[in-house]
This record gives sequence, structure tokens and C-alpha cells, in this order.
Amino acid sequence: MNKKKLVVLTGAGISAESGLKTFRDSDGLWEGYNVEDVATATAWRRNPALVQEFYNARRKNVAEAQPNKAHYILAQLQDDFDVQIITQNIDDLHERGGSKNILHLHGEIFKMRSEKNEMLIYAVHNDIKMGDKAEDGAQLRPHIVWFEEPVPLMEEAAKRVLNADIFMIVGTSLVVYPAAGLVNYAPPYLPKFIIDKKIPYTSGISNLTVIEKPATEGMEEVVPLLKKLMD
Ligand code: APR
Repeated sequence: MNKKKLVVLTGAGISAESGLKTFRDSDGLWEGYNVEDVATATAWRRNPALVQEFYNARRKNVAEAQPNKAHYILAQLQDDFDVQIITQNIDDLHERGGSKNILHLHGEIFKMRSEKNEMLIYAVHNDIKMGDKAEDGAQLRPHIVWFEEPVPLMEEAAKRVLNADIFMIVGTSLVVYPAAGLVNYAPPYLPKFIIDKKIPYTSGISNLTVIEKPATEGMEEVVPLLKKLMD
């Protein structure tokens, strides 16, 4: 049987109930920092030690967090659908929840790379220190896509959305581009679902079912609706 392609765009909201802070739910600060001071290419040039320290702390947070019911339900949906996740999250909770097909649009916290060569990528589970070098002799940095940097997997993500049979959005404010623009690749006739504790601005998306609930509850609610579309 050919399973239908269920393409899911996720953001920080799906990991919120695992105890990981979202970016925009607390006064524009992320873990007490301005995004411009820690998550931009300029910040890295200006104060790499601070950026390194910030992401070392994030790595510890993620290592201590566990997947929640929303991650697990998404993984269970693989029995019935060809589930393709596009996540803006740098955590590995989709992987640990059992999902197999995941595109990390904004990088991964458990990877690091040469600051000079984005192809030189390594696994990392502890801190990255200033002075730690890649094999090309360049400083190692988190494998994260910062503001002011291109998003290398964007084209692949857009293709997934274009070819989807069903498109679902979970826990993203849809304000950060180009990721937020992925919604526009979903053909108008395509069945679409959005789950968010506080639904973001989505005007102009046709065929959209809105579930304004925390991700864990919303995912439970969406499963029977998705199964109706299985054929
Ligand atoms: N369940 C569902 N949704 C939730 C929950 C929850 N328990 N808690 C919060 N949310 C929703 C918020 O209502 C909001 O719409 O999750 C969304 C979080 O939005 P952001 O904090 O902006 O996170 P995200 O959309 O993932 O940010 C995108 O911005 O800083 C960059 O690169 C970073 O990938 C990130 C990108």
C-alpha cells in the first residue's frame, strides 16, 4: 500500500511541554538573551565565547529533556502515513520520539562544524570550547543556522511541501523566514492542519483545520481527522 505523504512543519511549541523554552513566548527574550546577541552571524563574529557558552547551555537543556506525547504521536503516525518532518527545532526530540524522516532546517544542537567549512560536521555531546579546532584548523562552532545565514535545506523542504498529500503545522509562530514561507508551497486544495496553543496569523491558507490547543492535546485530537484522509 502506498502511504500518503504527511508533511509536518514543527517549531519550538512542540517541545515546550518537554520543558524547552520557545523563542517568542517570553518578552522577546530567549533564555534571558536577546536573539541578536546569541543567534546571529554578527554575534558570533563579535563575541564567539558568549555564543559558544549559550549553545553549550542549550545542549545541556536538550540532553536533559524528554520527548513528549506530541513527538510520540507523530512517530506513531508513521504506521499509517509517510511522515516527513520539517523542523525548525535544533533539539533531537523528534528522533528520540521515534520519527525517522526529519529535516532540521535550522541545524542540530548535537552537531558542530568548522567555522570555515560547513561540510565539516561532527557529533558533539559536551561543550564546544574556544580553541577546539576542526580538521581544517578552523574554530568549531555549533551546527546551527543563525539569522543572517542562508538556510541550506530550504529547497529540499519546499519540495517536500509541494509534494505533500497532507500538510500540518505544529507549534510555530510563523514569523521567521524563509521557514514561514513554506506554507505558501502547499497547494490550495491540499488538506491542512495547524495545532498551536495560540494560533498565529494564517490568513489566506485554504482548506485549513485549526486546533488551538497545546501540542500534546492537539496531536491527540488530530489523529482521527488524519485517519479519515487515509482512504
Ligand atoms: N503547544 C503548542 N504550541 C505552543 C506551545 C504548546 N505547549 N507553547 C507555545 N506554543 C506556540 C506559540 O504559541 C508560538 O506560536 O509555539 C510557537 C512558538 O513560536 P516561536 O517561539 O517563535 O518558535 P518558532 O516558530 O519555532 O521560531 C522559529 O526562530 O529564533 C528562531 O531559529 C529559531 O527556529 C527558530 C525560529
